[in-house]
Amino acid sequence: MHRSHHCAQLTKSDLGATVSLLGWVDSIRDHGGIIFVDLRDRKGITQVKFDSSLREQAAHLKDESVIGISGKVEVRPADMVNKNLPTGEVEVDATELEVHNISDTPPFPLDDAGGDKVNEDLRLTYRYLDLRRPKMRKNLLVRHKATKSIRDYFDGQEFIEVETPALFKSTPEGAREYLVPSRIHPGQFYALSQSPQQFKQILMVAGVEKYFQIARCFRDEDLRADRQMEFTQVDVEASFVTREDIYALFEGMLKKLWQDVLGTDIQTPFLRLAFQDAMNRFGVDKPDMRFGLELADFTETFRTSGFKVFASTATSGGAVKALNAKGLADLTQGEIAKLEETAKSLGAKGLAFIKVEGGEWKSPIVKFFSAAEKAALTERLGIAEGDMVFFAAAPWEKACAILGRIRLEAAQLLVKRGKLTIRPDDWKFLWVIDFPLMSYDEERGAYAATHHPFTAPVPEDAALLNSDPKKVRGQHYDVVLNGMELGGGSIRIHQPALQKKVFEDVLKIPADVVESRFGYLLKAFTYGAPPHGGIAFGLDRMVALLCGTTSIRDVIAFPKTQKGQDLMAQSPTPVTPKQLKELHIATVMPE
Ligand code: AMO
Ligand code: AMP
Repeated sequence: MHRSHHCAQLTKSDLGATVSLLGWVDSIRDHGGIIFVDLRDRKGITQVKFDSSLREQAAHLKDESVIGISGKVEVRPADMVNKNLPTGEVEVDATELEVHNISDTPPFPLDDAGGDKVNEDLRLTYRYLDLRRPKMRKNLLVRHKATKSIRDYFDGQEFIEVETPALFKSTPEGAREYLVPSRIHPGQFYALSQSPQQFKQILMVAGVEKYFQIARCFRDEDLRADRQMEFTQVDVEASFVTREDIYALFEGMLKKLWQDVLGTDIQTPFLRLAFQDAMNRFGVDKPDMRFGLELADFTETFRTSGFKVFASTATSGGAVKALNAKGLADLTQGEIAKLEETAKSLGAKGLAFIKVEGGEWKSPIVKFFSAAEKAALTERLGIAEGDMVFFAAAPWEKACAILGRIRLEAAQLLVKRGKLTIRPDDWKFLWVIDFPLMSYDEERGAYAATHHPFTAPVPEDAALLNSDPKKVRGQHYDVVLNGMELGGGSIRIHQPALQKKVFEDVLKIPADVVESRFGYLLKAFTYGAPPHGGIAFGLDRMVALLCGTTSIRDVIAFPKTQKGQDLMAQSPTPVTPKQLKELHIATVMPE
């Protein structure tokens, strides 16, 4: 039997036609003399009627069996019209039935609502069934449309897609790597590429000028809803560009993508926020701009305060930050305890608060505040009846980060109470710029590149590289959408001397190590490296947002679990001693 139509195609205009449909039994209804089957293929559903000699055979079908049918298109009786289906006015009166496979009963319901209720591990074990659900089918389709839109866009801009190796070498900066033993070079290893960063820069030296790739990347990270060990980047690099060129290029890509997939026109150019301001106002470098609840700084106010916790923080170089969670005075003890727990998990010593109830500031600490301090708080935070004000006193970045998290949790508590609306389709894009090039790693007692060591300093700050690396801003930029980091990139260093200086003098990597890890890159730069820059976007994260889901596992056909397992194929697995021997590997099991 050959398919003449798909299951979303037939309408009244096909009445009387003889058609053949192939697909899966979505449901069966036995009405005594007649059996109705909803037949499903990747496009949709058509109702099939078995009332003749086929009735007997159809009665043996089970949900999810694969069949082919031929028959005549008929109009449904008025009381059986299904307005929710494009094919809802017709049905096919089957005259032929071909059974390809009778299905076992699936271990969970394959409709959206039913599947959403079951444990994700079960869905992942039977991923081929999970992917039959309409929602998951749609997610795969959105992902396809997204990659097509992106490829078309870059092609239109005269970028060419170049594939770079997955088997690379170990360059331990950034995330932990996956190592791959070499059979022919005993004791030596490849590393799976964390990103095509070095290759794309080399491609610029090679004169490609405009490169892109939809690239698979591998990072041995702790997995979360927005992190997989194997994920996909939309990776781009271009020569002779400025930051402004990259902003415009990517605003264009995102505008087209949102238009192609959702039919939505997003606002460009995007808002820009310096890292310092993002931290000060939202307590995070990827702020969700769909709501206010901004942080305020009261370090100066409390410098000479009677509340010693705040005063000593201020005088020892830290910051006192506050956040007015407007309308949250009705928090329960339990909710407050949870917020405190959050704050403490980020290293807070406590989470001081003021609850404004019955015209009174209820708080164990206000008794230490002067009238001027109270007036400053009231004025700058607009404190009113029903408000809840939180404080964090700590080193600046930590104080910001603590209240940044409290801001997000407070917003959720306001949403729960119906006092705030946060819409998933309220697309608030922004560029976060002017990151510090280097961050000081207290533990290691050394500087580390905030993003990666290839980022160029902002030209006017470059002179500070020797004297005060902390003050140097990098030409780095992140694209943030609704609290999620979608992508990041930078203008790169293209002068071999400057790159060497960053490795050796600032990052304090010994010269021989620099040579063995990055020697080839530095050498390439000595043969006419153009100025260049680029960016990489998390495709999985972008598609998740387009699909309205918070987990990237929902938009990856075969993702790993939080524990890094493939429950369907069952990996990882032990291998045979023979395989290990061939690879010159011995394993040492943990105690
Ligand atoms: P970066 O490390 O910031 O930059 O990665 C770019 C984007 O990739 C996505 N991403 C991930 N998505 C899913 N799972 C993960 N484990 C994961 N890790 C990162 C994020 C992130 O914004 N080579 C540079 C880019 C450049 O400078 O051009 C890089 O890889 O959305
Ligand atoms: P204490 O005087 O230590 O009992 O603290 C009084 C209140 O201030 C308690 O509610 C603490 O949770 C809170 N608190 C203590 N240290 C800090 C801090 N560094 N930042 C914010 N709140 C704090």
